[in-house]
This record gives sequence, C-alpha cells and structure tokens, in this order.
Amino acid sequence: MLIYEYKKVKIINNINSVVRGTGKYLPDFIIENKVFEKIIDTSDEWIVSHTGISERRIEQEKSNFEMMGEAAKIALKNANISPHEIDLIIASTVTADYSFPASACLVQNYIGADNAASFDVSAACAGAIFAVDLADLYIKSGRMKNVLVVSGDLMTRCVDFNDRTLCVLFGDGAGAILLSAEENTGENQRGVLASYIMSDCDGDKPMSITLRSKTTKKIFEEETKEFLGNPHNINGLMYMNGRAVYQFAVRTVTKIIDEVLKKVNMTISDVKYIVAHQANKRILDAIVDRYNLDPEKMPMNIDKYANFSSATVSVLLHELAENNKIQRGDVIILVGFGSGLVFGANIIRW
Ligand SMILES: CC(C)(COP(=O)(O)OP(=O)(O)OC[C@H]1O[C@@H](n2cnc3c(N)ncnc32)[C@H](O)[C@@H]1OP(=O)(O)O)[C@@H](O)C(=O)NCCC(=O)NCCS
Repeated sequence: MLIYEYKKVKIINNINSVVRGTGKYLPDFIIENKVFEKIIDTSDEWIVSHTGISERRIEQEKSNFEMMGEAAKIALKNANISPHEIDLIIASTVTADYSFPASACLVQNYIGADNAASFDVSAACAGAIFAVDLADLYIKSGRMKNVLVVSGDLMTRCVDFNDRTLCVLFGDGAGAILLSAEENTGENQRGVLASYIMSDCDGDKPMSITLRSKTTKKIFEEETKEFLGNPHNINGLMYMNGRAVYQFAVRTVTKIIDEVLKKVNMTISDVKYIVAHQANKRILDAIVDRYNLDPEKMPMNIDKYANFSSATVSVLLHELAENNKIQRGDVIILVGFGSGLVFGANIIRW
C-alpha cells in the first residue's frame, strides 16, 4: 500500500492516475508576424528575437467551450473510452464564454458526458497543472475513475490589436488530458507521481496580468489605477506588465521544477521532457541554460502557436504523444506559470 503526501492530507491507496489519452484543437486561421508589420510598429525580426513566435492561430467561429469539446473528443478517442464513462470534467480557462455556467458544464453537454460532474479552475496559464493535480487527488482518493481535464483560451479576443506589446504574443487553442485510475501493480509507479502548486500574491503581483470582469467594483477600478499608475483593462482588454512577468517566470520555473523533483527523489537527468507553458522562448531557453539541458528535453511549439494560456501545456503534451515521442516509463514534467501570480508542476511517468 502506498502513502501519498499532499501537504497535510494523506491519501492512502493503491491507485495510480495515469494519462490515458490527450487531444488538441487549433484553429485553421494562421496569422504570420508579417501581418502585424502592416498594422503596428513592429517587425518579424523583433517578434522572433524577443519571443520566438513566428505565427499564431486565431479562432473565428468556435466558442471556447467548442474548442475544448473538440480537443476532448480526440482525447476520448485516443483513450478508447466513451463520454458516459467520464466521472468528472475540470476545465481550466481565463476566457470562459460565460461567467456561469462553468465552461466544464458546456463541454459536458457538447460531448454528451451524461454521468459526470463538472467545474472550472481559474489558475491562468498554470490552469492545466492545477487541474491535473486535482484530477490526481480525486482519482487517488478513490472517488473518481476517469477525469477529463480540458483547457482552452481565446486570447486573441481580449488583446488590443493596436498594442504592439501584447497582441503579437497571443493565440487561441485548446487541449485535453484524460486521466484514469489504474491499480498499482507493484512495479514502478505510473501516472502522476507528484505535483507542486503555489501562488505568489505579494504586493503588485496579482495585478501584473489582468483582465477585469464586468462585475468589478467601480471603487476597485480606481484603486488599481492608483496602485500601478496604469489604467487596467480598458474596454475589457488585457493588461500585462511583461517585464515583471518575464523576470518572475525565469526565477520561478526552475524553483518549481526543483520542488517537484525533490518530492519524488529524482534529478533532472531522470526526466525525458519538460513540457512547459509556451509564453516566451527566451524563458524556456533560460531553463535549458540553468540545468545545462540537452535542448531536446525542452520541446517547444511557441513558434507556430504563440501563447494561449493554460492549454499550451496540454497541446504540447498531445503533440509529443501523437508523434510517438513519449514511451511507456518516460518521466515528464508539466510546468506552468501565469496571472495570480500562480505556478505549478506535475511530474508524470508515462
Ligand atoms: C513582453 C516581452 C516579450 C517584452 O520583451 P522585452 O525584451 O522585455 O521588451 P521590453 O518590454 O523591455 O520593451 C523593449 C522595447 O521594445 C518595444 N516593443 C514591445 N513590443 C514590441 C513589438 N511587438 N515590436 C517592436 N517593439 C516592441 C517596447 O515598446 C520597448 O521600446 P522602448 O524601449 O522604446 O520603450 C517580454 O517581457 C515577455 O515575454 N514577458 C513575459 C510575458 C509572458 O510570459 N506573459 C505571459 C505569462 S503567462
């Protein structure tokens, strides 16, 4: 019998939560950097050298929940399970179609998962990581057998296309990860081995990436203006202090990786891939340098898709899986960071 420790909660059982299927949905419509050269004062050279992004996808028709639903259908097909077998759907998004109902409920309806409970998590670009952690806890507690984690964001609908500091960075897309209970056979434990999640909400950090909702109090609007000297989210658009977030990310990502490795008594050399949130190639290169990694261990697709919040991790994981780059027994770290500021990692044996 294994004992898993999660802060002070001890879960005692012999169940693993294994990744049984993954999926993705990416819009067909591609915008290359050179399109931006015509609308704003920027260049392909600046965007590529500062971010690693060459193009991004923009969704023109689908709602966010439909994107997530499409990714979910692929994950279910890959896992070879029917929607009726899903016990729980956790959706992570920062661009939900509705404040309520939860996006997960809309996905549940879309895919016909008539035996599931559904709710959303809001942990920005670390959303998939937080959701996988929750899925793992539900499975290891014995309460749920099949948990679908869907992540999706329509970031291009909340950036100002006149703001060169923001609009070039983002895209749209969705991903899905299906986790299922599997009895531990006594061999090397498979599935989610450990997770580490944390939020750093000191000082001005919570206001460093924001998208104000319609229900924000007027007074709070004034306070935040004074707080950072910046008018936040005018007309429902996103605000980001890019430099502050960049510094936070470079500092934090290695800390998260170290923490999650420590939990399972492994070193970076035990890891096949670090599947990291695709926010900026320079952040990912800094991690490669810090660990002196073979760059192959840090797969990237930011050049093709840009940043679409929490779904970048699940889409990248799906692309590795569908190209047979991950073999049974490989150890993978999923790592994300974002608005909050939140950060987290899951370490998984395939
Ligand atoms: C946004 C980011 C790419 C900016 O890169 P940077 O090297 O820090 O650039 P700076 O913000 O210092 O800006 C440098 C100059 O480039 C300019 N610039 C910004 N965007 C530009 C663009 N698209 N094209 C051309 N110039 C641009 C700035 O206006 C500034 O000009 P100035 O010196 O005349 O004022 C980088 O800070 C970043 O990636 N941050 C993290 C963002 C992130 O990860 N967000 C999501 C977290 S989940």
